[in-house]
Amino acid sequence: MAMTREDAAQLDAGDVLAHYKNEFVIADPDVSYLDGNSLGRLPKRTVEVVNKFLIEEWGTKVVDGWGDWIDEASKSGDLIGRSALGAASGQVLACDTTSVNFYQLCSAAIKARPGRKKIITDSANFPTDRYILQGLAKEHGLELLMIDNESTGVTKHERITPEVLAPYLDESVALVSLQVIQYRSGARSDIRALTDLVRAHGALLVWDASHAVGAIAMDFDKSGVDLAVGCTYKYGNSGPGSPAWLYVSKARQREFQVPIQGWFAQRDQFAMGANFERSEEMRGFQIASPSIFGMRTINSAFEMIEEAGISAIEAKARAGTSMMIDLFDEWLAPLGFALNTPREAGERGGHISLWHEQAQRISVALRRFQRVIPDYRVPNQIRVAISPLATSFVEVFDGFARIRKSVMDKEYLQISNEGNRVT
Ligand SMILES: Cc1ncc(COP(=O)(O)O)c(C=O)c1O
Repeated sequence: MAMTREDAAQLDAGDVLAHYKNEFVIADPDVSYLDGNSLGRLPKRTVEVVNKFLIEEWGTKVVDGWGDWIDEASKSGDLIGRSALGAASGQVLACDTTSVNFYQLCSAAIKARPGRKKIITDSANFPTDRYILQGLAKEHGLELLMIDNESTGVTKHERITPEVLAPYLDESVALVSLQVIQYRSGARSDIRALTDLVRAHGALLVWDASHAVGAIAMDFDKSGVDLAVGCTYKYGNSGPGSPAWLYVSKARQREFQVPIQGWFAQRDQFAMGANFERSEEMRGFQIASPSIFGMRTINSAFEMIEEAGISAIEAKARAGTSMMIDLFDEWLAPLGFALNTPREAGERGGHISLWHEQAQRISVALRRFQRVIPDYRVPNQIRVAISPLATSFVEVFDGFARIRKSVMDKEYLQISNEGNRVT
């Protein structure tokens, strides 16, 4: 039988995380915000924390503040690590962008495997990762192998399993890079199994966990992850352009040298010496001055994740995406939608992807006429997410009811195809 709004309200009533929604700024309670996989909502604590920083720290201490701020990339990194990555302290830095961190760690991995000639990634990987790997392949004279996980029949929902990856691996591979959660389909990789497989061939694996961090529990230390990057502005709720993070496992920190040797990586930073001598701590991977605004927005958001508990967060992501799939079956499949996300809850994260031949126009119509915020990704897919701390089950239910209504009423016919630069 079809799910009702009362059923969704019941789920909220039993939700141990329900009260967190009130911790976020929600300018219009009638909007169904299903895009927390792209940009999370603003935590009220962040407004307070940033204001306090401005007045009581920057405004008051001015340059003397650096005595307190200097190590914040490591402190915020440790918080991200323990709240969301399953990483003990001294292995994560909050810094720069995902793209910069990805370039840094992939370069270091390639240099740590001299003589090996190949890099492997998948065609459904996020564009910045593919483009950076293309550049690195050119720079180092390596071959870039793209696993085709978009054509039908190769794998389901773009999911890279050990069986899909294995035929590409041999002793000539230096580097493999994969996403923990596929940015478009939402399919989830088995971190431990893939890490073991790549290691068995002597290659290194750089994980991009941008769509996973803050949505699912990860256990980097226990899974034997060596290198990983990710952002903080999606389920991390740390704000547009907030600093990203990078993870380098303690055991292997000495093996890697990133290409940008900035002054924060210098062992005795303020001796201002003539030559670079890398710190053997995690700081050896830091380029430059941390954005203290950014560190504070990360702290207030990830403290909430730590408080709520990443296992409870993942449980809600599973329940919310299961509810979405039930509503898809009931309401959206008959309207020409197809599901491009695994049905098995353990094989996905916090978002699902809905294919429709009019997806681009539907996504604009939803914003314009229905106050539903999803996002659109080529080709013909709408992504919808539950951000477990900031979204209620009723909000998801209402969003789906409005998607159904909008498509039944063919509101998309009123939308012309010329779009916004940002989808
Ligand atoms: C999987 C993935 N990797 C990398 C990025 C790029 O992040 P940034 O702009 O912080 O470099 C994104 C952005 O959404 C992403 O989804």
